[in-house]
Amino acid sequence: MPTNNNQFERLRCIKRIDQTTDASTFEFEHLEQTPFEFQAGQFLTFEINHYNNLLYRAYSICSSPEKPNSVTVAIKRVPGGKVSNYLLDNLKAGHALPAMAPAGQFTQEANKTTKNLLLMSAGSGITPCLAIAQDSLDKNLDVNIHFIHSARISDDVIMASLLTELAIKHDNFRLTLILEKSDNAEHFEGRLDSPLFTQLVPDTNEQTIFICGPSLYMKSVEEIVSATDFNMEYFHKESFVPEAKAGEPVFSDINHQITFPALDKQFMANDQQTLLDAMQGAGIKVPYSCKSGICGACKCKVSGDVVSSSSEALTAEQIELGYVLSCSTKANSDLIVEL
Ligand code: FES
Repeated sequence: MPTNNNQFERLRCIKRIDQTTDASTFEFEHLEQTPFEFQAGQFLTFEINHYNNLLYRAYSICSSPEKPNSVTVAIKRVPGGKVSNYLLDNLKAGHALPAMAPAGQFTQEANKTTKNLLLMSAGSGITPCLAIAQDSLDKNLDVNIHFIHSARISDDVIMASLLTELAIKHDNFRLTLILEKSDNAEHFEGRLDSPLFTQLVPDTNEQTIFICGPSLYMKSVEEIVSATDFNMEYFHKESFVPEAKAGEPVFSDINHQITFPALDKQFMANDQQTLLDAMQGAGIKVPYSCKSGICGACKCKVSGDVVSSSSEALTAEQIELGYVLSCSTKANSDLIVEL
């Protein structure tokens, strides 16, 4: 499978487990079997050759950095989801895929935390929360974890047996399942609302929330939590879905020249157009996934003046070196760009 640039390394799928009727986990190792370096909560951006179209998608790692010889991601079927459904239909042990190095800021290392961790998830959003839980437990960190997961029915819970095992093994890991339909009195039936949140978390003092799931779920939980006295500086969310679709940009009269020395290319970009759109318009293949400044797949290095609305997925060192997220950056002068 061809790759666009050297940001990618090839990973081999070594195990596939079908977890539910519509979700599977895939374990990967480096082709050279070197260990992975990552933080719990980070994601991998894969390059997928989808019928000769290169597409990019970010999937959170659900395994622990304390077991660095492989990484596991979970993929859930989504109605109309091109890439996830393609991978579920085709990816098997033995196949190799290009992927970017793990990235992302949804980690304990990058955020303010306390010793009381509320890990809240729904659907496949369980994956980064599970990595954070396992990492904390593997490292014997002095934390109390309350894992609150929402799903339709118990059979939809990805890696349910691992969650149960963690709850049995560790006194400082408490599991709450909220199911839309449940025949087990141990689980809550219905959806997470304010009264249930207050029942589950009577004391919001000294708590940290890491939350990942569908955007409607996260929006609803954020509203519930912000109506309490929870300190929102400790509310950390992960989303790979843009919150609102931006319309077509309205171009201004100002254009800047973009020079791409590696490809010996020059083209014009409007100052209201993202650099990613301008590069794609000029026929340059740039990796991208979320198009909303979250995943980091579209990063490139620029010399010149730019206006960026997000640098969330970049490290301080990358920003210092001149990297920007091209999906969230517009030219404010002529630029020289490298991938
Ligand atoms: S495409 Fe995800 S940050 Fe730009």
